[in-house]
Amino acid sequence: MAEFVEIVEVGPRDGLQNEKRAVPAAEKIALVDLLSQVGFRRIEVTSFVSPTWVPQLADAAEVMAEIARRPGTRWSVLAPNLRGYHAARAAGADEVAVFVSASEGFSRANLNASVAESLVRLAPLAEAAREDAMPLRGYISMVVDCPFDGPTDPAAVARVAAALRDLGCHEIALGDTLGRATPDSFARMLAAVTGELPGTRLAVHCHDTAGRALEVIDAALEQGVRVVDAAVGGLGGCPYAPGAAGNVATETVAAHLARRGYATGLDAARLAEAAALAQRLRTG
Ligand code: HMG
Ligand code: MG
Repeated sequence: MAEFVEIVEVGPRDGLQNEKRAVPAAEKIALVDLLSQVGFRRIEVTSFVSPTWVPQLADAAEVMAEIARRPGTRWSVLAPNLRGYHAARAAGADEVAVFVSASEGFSRANLNASVAESLVRLAPLAEAAREDAMPLRGYISMVVDCPFDGPTDPAAVARVAAALRDLGCHEIALGDTLGRATPDSFARMLAAVTGELPGTRLAVHCHDTAGRALEVIDAALEQGVRVVDAAVGGLGGCPYAPGAAGNVATETVAAHLARRGYATGLDAARLAEAAALAQRLRTG
């Protein structure tokens, strides 16, 4: 039997947080509902962050209330602090993703806090999640390169990964936020992080600015990573990361993994429909 690799669909969150066009909630809901027919185990729907910081996702509660839930899929959302966590839980999230940076410059730009402060901010959120038995996913951004600070020291990524693990994250997604990683730079970083957590607890989260995301994903698979983030239609980017392009497209990753003999459990025809809808949402 083919080995399974999970693709986590992050397009509704990572993609739509960055669109210039104000995508109406009804269109977001239609995209999530179509994605829910593709066969993902997890779909990252939206973020309960400050609407001043990310106005594109100010309708998070409305979107979460209206999507059609299906057995077999977990609906995850981002939260930057305890307030966001409470809103996420009230909205019925099955998993909450917290996010920190490996670099100080991006931490300030994205969270208005140093790396250490951002981890302290997450402590009450983590405690609440523990009490609720809410699964926590941790993101680390700028794992190889930062637009403010330059190359990231792999040891810094490992330190932040250990801190997120200690906060209770069951999985840590390693973000090549700028999409500039090479298989070598990503593998060097992974070698440091796997000193803290096994590859089976890591996910690879590639933006595809330089067109090398598939090679980077292959390098991660080689070190035992079996969870790959992707965004349908290649949506994506971070409003606070200058130069960051879209996430690697889900349909591209799914086809690549299939060619390499992995099973993803995704319906390619439905996925193509969702990719077409994602492109239409962009242009309105
Ligand atoms: P701050 O300005 O330092 O904090 O922001 P604050 O406490 O003063 O809050 C600012 C305003 O937001 C206040 O309202 C708060 O009440 C409100 P105002 O007085 O302006 O009316 N507020 C909230 N509202 C709703 N929900 C909340 C919430 N918290 C505060 N949870 C803060 C600090 C962390 C809030 C802010 O920096 C923030 O929200 N940042 C989020 C930025 C973001 O979402 N970036 C994109 C996601 S990360 C990413 O894309 C990377 C990733 O994909 C991985 C990768 O690619 O590397 C995950
Ligand atoms: Mg991202």
